[in-house]
Amino acid sequence: MTSRGDASRKDVPAIDVSSIDITSVDAPFFDVCEESALRDDSAAAFQVAGRDLLLCRSGGQVFAIADRCTHAAWSLAGAEIADCEILCALHGARFDLRTGEATAHPATKPVRTFAVRIREGRVEVRATPPPR
Ligand code: FES
Repeated sequence: MTSRGDASRKDVPAIDVSSIDITSVDAPFFDVCEESALRDDSAAAFQVAGRDLLLCRSGGQVFAIADRCTHAAWSLAGAEIADCEILCALHGARFDLRTGEATAHPATKPVRTFAVRIREGRVEVRATPPPR
């Protein structure tokens, strides 16, 4: 007889959840800036709920990601952005702004993403304080 715990461990594949927005849907959205302040293919750094975030605009959409490359924790502020990807200036890793996925080495782990909404021309980001 197989225990329930053993069976479920074998059946569930390992997935990397580090980039998934696990912020509770009950978490508040924070007002960050005017949408018009963000130029296409650029990023601006903000602190939201005690987190260092980047608001990035590419392809007419606004994205929020953690301001830390997952390769060596370099700030992505001022990084080159094109086609919904951000390029880390230190060693050349790339991340998809839509999913956080690392799309070019040397980074292999995704960068965290945060929910964004636009309300009356203002960019709002859903975030909770980082764990202590
Ligand atoms: S710190 Fe970003 S690629 Fe190395």
